[in-house]
Amino acid sequence: FVEPVLNGVSLLITAGPTQEALDPVRYLTNKSSGKMGYALAEQAVALGANVTLVSGPVSLAAPAGVKRISVESAADMHQAVMAEVEAHQVFIGCAAVADYRPVSAAEQKIKKSNAEMSLELVRNPDILADVAKHAKRPFTVGFAAETNDVETYARGKLERKNLDMIAANDVSKAGQGFNADTNALTVYWKDGERALAHGHKRQIARQLLQLIQSHLQSK
Ligand code: PMT
Repeated sequence: FVEPVLNGVSLLITAGPTQEALDPVRYLTNKSSGKMGYALAEQAVALGANVTLVSGPVSLAAPAGVKRISVESAADMHQAVMAEVEAHQVFIGCAAVADYRPVSAAEQKIKKSNAEMSLELVRNPDILADVAKHAKRPFTVGFAAETNDVETYARGKLERKNLDMIAANDVSKAGQGFNADTNALTVYWKDGERALAHGHKRQIARQLLQLIQSHLQSK
């Protein structure tokens, strides 16, 4: 039996990678599988929450009881999140959103020639920062995928993006982060931190949600 500590709480979660089109058959993306975000969605439902999952392209089935909105690009994800944000009390940005996209997507397949080719990229909107700026701001939790100086970069994002909490994973280590079944997180907030030891993403998700719940109560 699991105590439904998130009964009646509505969570908006992003998961997976984004795809930034170059032409009709090519795109820029990253190695996110969606496993961490989907584990959060599944465990949040188990704890009694209402869950909306905005997901980039992944091969996972939507967890039972979750409302899934499927998107491709960062711009699509931004639009879907902004349309949903007011209706939710908690936002967790677990998606690996592309920071840049090609300046334009070619309508026809790009043809090769003998010349060198370079790509011009422009910045994508920052979904997490825009959620945190919203007038009806939910309790806002970010993720940080780092390969070095994890605490410094994670705390930097916490402050700069005005978040309530940030969950940092060291993605340089094997068996955690992108596409692994397991993970380890260090969660930071303004005046504290908690390490969630290496374990299955399902367990890590459960612990992160319980931590969020304890902060929601004391707000
Ligand atoms: O999907 P899996 O294979 O299970 O892997 C899980 C994971 C490694 C992808 C996940 O645990 C994780 O770390 N997700 C965040 C990855 C990331 O893009 O981190 P970042 O440090 O680049 O971004 C910081 C935060 O800003 C994230 O919450 C991200 O969702 C958000 N962001 C970033 C850029 C952008 N344009 N909009 C955003 O909202």
